[in-house]
Amino acid sequence: MANQNDLIRRLADDLLASESCVALTGAGISVESGIPPFRGKGGLWERFDPMEVAHIDSFLRDPARVWDLLLREMHSLLSTARPNAAHLGLARLEKAGILSTVITQNVDGLHQAAGSTDVIEFHGNFAWQRCMECEKTYSTPEVDLSTIPPLCACGGILRPECVFFGEAIPEHELARSFQLAARCGLMLVVGTSAVVQPSASLPQVARQHGALVVEINREPTHLTGSVAHYSLLGRAGDLVGAVASLVEQGRG
Ligand code: APR
Repeated sequence: MANQNDLIRRLADDLLASESCVALTGAGISVESGIPPFRGKGGLWERFDPMEVAHIDSFLRDPARVWDLLLREMHSLLSTARPNAAHLGLARLEKAGILSTVITQNVDGLHQAAGSTDVIEFHGNFAWQRCMECEKTYSTPEVDLSTIPPLCACGGILRPECVFFGEAIPEHELARSFQLAARCGLMLVVGTSAVVQPSASLPQVARQHGALVVEINREPTHLTGSVAHYSLLGRAGDLVGAVASLVEQGRG
């Protein structure tokens, strides 16, 4: 079995050799920024039933409850979170001319904060809140949480510009992600359990169209040893950071 350093080297070489690379990221890439994942140890869904707090029907039924249980906490976590070495590593790979696009399931905006310029936000972004009556949007830090649910100036209820369970993925983001998956030469999958559809299909689509699929995760997933050609197991920050450094040396 190859050791970790060999796999880091192998991934750097594959990135350097590939014509077009995209990354697919999930909650695991932001764990080292202090944002808990959804599944697994310490995951949000250990405390909450996602269908109860993150389904659009629950939000419409009782927006105050969903704001109280989930969105208030997200508001406070995301307001202070900063990009970690994994977000920065992907931005460095873009700068080195290797990575074209990050497709992220995350709503935390940390890829853009790290300097990635082409980020597809598959599940929207928590940076904006939209009035359900008049559609006016507010940047999240300007939203007053002294009233729950927070309200628009018109009195309408604010909701995040995120995709709840039960809602469709924005059309443009969906189409572009699947096009990229079908056309890329290498898909780097970082910190996702790859169980939530339709994003979970992207690595499979990439592989079916001939791309090399490489996974970085702190533990094996159902992609490991199947859809992924090989997997690097460990912390995303350490691994992406180390790979980015080797790629930069290779380019230098
Ligand atoms: N480094 C690398 N991987 C990590 C780290 C880390 N430091 N910490 C956790 N992970 C991995 C976990 O092993 C897990 O496989 O990140 C993955 C996180 O999985 P999920 O919590 O299921 O997150 P994600 O795949 O993004 O979930 C998809 O589900 O609830 C919805 O809408 C939500 O966008 C989210 C979607």
